[in-house]
Amino acid sequence: MVLREDLEQLLTSAGQNHLLEAWDSLNISQKQSLADQISTLDFPGLSQLHADAQKPAEHRLGDEDISPMPFSLAADDSRREYWLATGESVLTQGQAAAFLVAGGQGSRLGYEGPKGAYRVGLPSGKSIFQIQAERLLRLEQLYGKPVPWCIMTSPRNHAETVAHFEENSFFGLSSEKIKFFPQAMIPALDVEGKILREAPDRIALVPDGNGGCFKALSRSGALNWLAEQGVRLVFLYGVDNILVKVCDPFFLGALACSAEFKSASKVVAKRSAQEKVGIFAFKGRKPSVIEYSDLPESLREQRTEDQGLAFDGGNIAVHLFRIEALRQLEHQPLPWHAAFKKVNYWTPTHSYGDPETANAWKFEQFLFDSFPILGTMYPFGVTREEEFAPVKNASGEDSPVSARRMLGELHRRWLQRAGIAVESDTLYEISPLLSYAGEGLDQALFGRELGKGIRTFRE
Ligand code: UTP
Repeated sequence: MVLREDLEQLLTSAGQNHLLEAWDSLNISQKQSLADQISTLDFPGLSQLHADAQKPAEHRLGDEDISPMPFSLAADDSRREYWLATGESVLTQGQAAAFLVAGGQGSRLGYEGPKGAYRVGLPSGKSIFQIQAERLLRLEQLYGKPVPWCIMTSPRNHAETVAHFEENSFFGLSSEKIKFFPQAMIPALDVEGKILREAPDRIALVPDGNGGCFKALSRSGALNWLAEQGVRLVFLYGVDNILVKVCDPFFLGALACSAEFKSASKVVAKRSAQEKVGIFAFKGRKPSVIEYSDLPESLREQRTEDQGLAFDGGNIAVHLFRIEALRQLEHQPLPWHAAFKKVNYWTPTHSYGDPETANAWKFEQFLFDSFPILGTMYPFGVTREEEFAPVKNASGEDSPVSARRMLGELHRRWLQRAGIAVESDTLYEISPLLSYAGEGLDQALFGRELGKGIRTFRE
């Protein structure tokens, strides 16, 4: 049986003695559970994180030189045919895998379940997960090999995520080719650095950020699983972009043909200097992503000779890593980023509930902090209209409506390019099972599939 005295000294020296408040009201198994959670905590580490969070924002960027990272559109590159053929061969040989980070809480969208289970409102009624699954199925049809798919969840949405796939028979994919695993969690701290509880016997834990993906991939055994299957390139991406070309052969080929780079990232031109997106830049001569809020206004507005934005390359969370790079990162610590946010909490005098204002420090690691560690990254320019329709907010910019419209317009352009007469004020949804990126469309197929695999809608 755990005794209060066993914990008292440790907690007092760590300044976290409040965790014993209400101890006497807990039953034996609750006491054991709380003691087990306490035993896993890194008190000096948490105290350091709290101290770092107090530093003013301008110190976050450090004093290293920041310079622009030029990029050009991959579609205009003279090597494009070679890249595509190489990427197709990577898929034919089963050497590519997809890795989705889906452990986020999706608070801006306000949807209760895992964001990937959200149905964006397309006429097919498909969820984000289904759209991605069907793109992978299409690659399997085209290249003859299933693509292994790793899906990182968080302990908060793991069961629901797996259930969504099970209820939908894995959308036609082989369940043996999908590995789900949760990311790690980290305690939330109050304004004074005290560890919060969400119940008398439970520490308030939050997901450790999408940068937790490297250790989660390793600890879950998924990295070994990929290596055993002969995977060389891993396509790592965020959940909410409904245009994401999962395991895009063209992208795979570009990295496969560029031995000098350990990873590659898709880059889009920013809409404006004020667009709230992280930008690719060199920091201390190393490839990096700088968050919108960390980039000083003067650099945000800096112009090139032809009046373009000097810091123009937006991060759309679509990356590709060599498996050796993931090996390098599996035990590599990444920096922590602090944000003061709302976290539900419990104290003996305040029962559990939604705080009205921000009350806690949350700490996250970001996967883009791996780029300076790896030291080389290929910026692969793409056009927003073809590749980036995020579902971040419930309405307005980057919402389900704007994402649907972008998909509908892109698919209309695919049909136009295939010489099919379309209505210019109508939006189209083409099933990924018919076309991954506009290939394979013709009048006969259109006639057959209209109302089935090809649907129309308006916004
Ligand atoms: P976002 O930064 O958009 O965060 O995540 P979010 O939690 O999904 O949404 P908001 O900010 O609460 O509205 C970018 C990607 O990183 C994943 C998300 O699931 C998304 O794919 N992510 C984020 C994780 O996998 N784990 C995390 O701890 C945080």
